[in-house]
Amino acid sequence: MTAPVVLNPVRTKEDVLFEDSLRPRSFDEFIGQDTIKANLKIFIAAARKRGEHLDHVLLYGPPGLGKTSLAYLLAKELGVGIKPTSGPVIERAGDLSAILSNLQAKEILFIDEIHRLQPAVEEIMYSAMEDFSLDIVIGQGPAARSHKLTLKKFTLIGATTRAGRITAPLRSRFGIIHRLDYYRDEDIRQVLLRSAGLMKIRLEEEGAEAIAQRSRGTPRVANRLLRRVRDYVDVRGGSAITGSEARYALDMMEVDAVGLDDVDRKILITIIENFGGGPVGISTIAAAIDEDKDTIESIYEPFLMRIGFLERTQRGRKLTDRAWRHLGFAAPGGKEPAGKSGSSQKKLF
Ligand SMILES: Nc1ncnc2c1ncn2[C@@H]1O[C@H](COP(=O)(O)OP(=O)(O)OP(=O)(O)O)[C@@H](O)[C@H]1O
Ligand SMILES: [Mg+2]
Repeated sequence: MTAPVVLNPVRTKEDVLFEDSLRPRSFDEFIGQDTIKANLKIFIAAARKRGEHLDHVLLYGPPGLGKTSLAYLLAKELGVGIKPTSGPVIERAGDLSAILSNLQAKEILFIDEIHRLQPAVEEIMYSAMEDFSLDIVIGQGPAARSHKLTLKKFTLIGATTRAGRITAPLRSRFGIIHRLDYYRDEDIRQVLLRSAGLMKIRLEEEGAEAIAQRSRGTPRVANRLLRRVRDYVDVRGGSAITGSEARYALDMMEVDAVGLDDVDRKILITIIENFGGGPVGISTIAAAIDEDKDTIESIYEPFLMRIGFLERTQRGRKLTDRAWRHLGFAAPGGKEPAGKSGSSQKKLF
């Protein structure tokens, strides 16, 4: 038996290269998210027609859904350069001033994890976004003078998994705001078939379907599972990923039928075993399983809520009856676990 796979691990350098190789290069290759694409296409066409910069764009939503990919696509479609950075990397106001004053007209500044900007840095951003100006102070003490520096008209694209952490003044300065949502299984199937083509893997329709069902509606997870399933098939001497090969490999990795991984199960079972199913506060859960609270809130919780396993109540997080049954426990409502008798109720840890 192999170690269970964690579906959202910290990415290695190799993972990043792998992801870059699969990034969609055009809107046609960017699968799903049709409303967002349709809107963005209009804004791009309008900006191009007027010969102007695109309005500032904020993209938010759970990890791995395509925020960074979309930022690069926007640059490509607009035919402009893109300078990528991230919130925590810009340490001082001066760092941001230097980046901003070096931007070309219409160029894109992409700030990932924009919710992590330092307050002093964020403040500089306000006038830069609004009237493309920077107030810089030259000299010190009584001799200090403030100068207004005019910037070229650039586009800021901000991305975040934590929209709630963005301050109102910053948020209000974005003209275009889109939330990326989890993908439908059908879209994920297409992502997989496209990736398999690029990776020169023979992926059968049924194999794609099996992987899609367990990919948590997330392209990044789908691509990662595809790579792992391919390893299994290679080792077993298979020449294509069939439905049964995919299911076998995914079972070996302990990715279950709805895509729960080891950490999801730990969260759910801890809530059942230690807190009677909840309600329980997120910090308490985090401490109980020794996982970062932010990681639980941005990665695990949105998915568990999406599949109807977890509810947010005023007193904390609570498991639904569906989650109890999925894990093989009798639900507190008294119903038996799905397809099982009461006596087969199991303890998983
Ligand atoms: N709509 C899509 N069509 C095809 N592939 C996609 C799509 N969205 C994402 N991907 C693939 O998923 C991977 C992850 O996407 P991306 O890095 O853009 O996610 P993200 O939202 O920026 O994640 P994070 O919040 O962790 O930064 C990319 O390598 C890309 O290949
Ligand atoms: Mg990203």
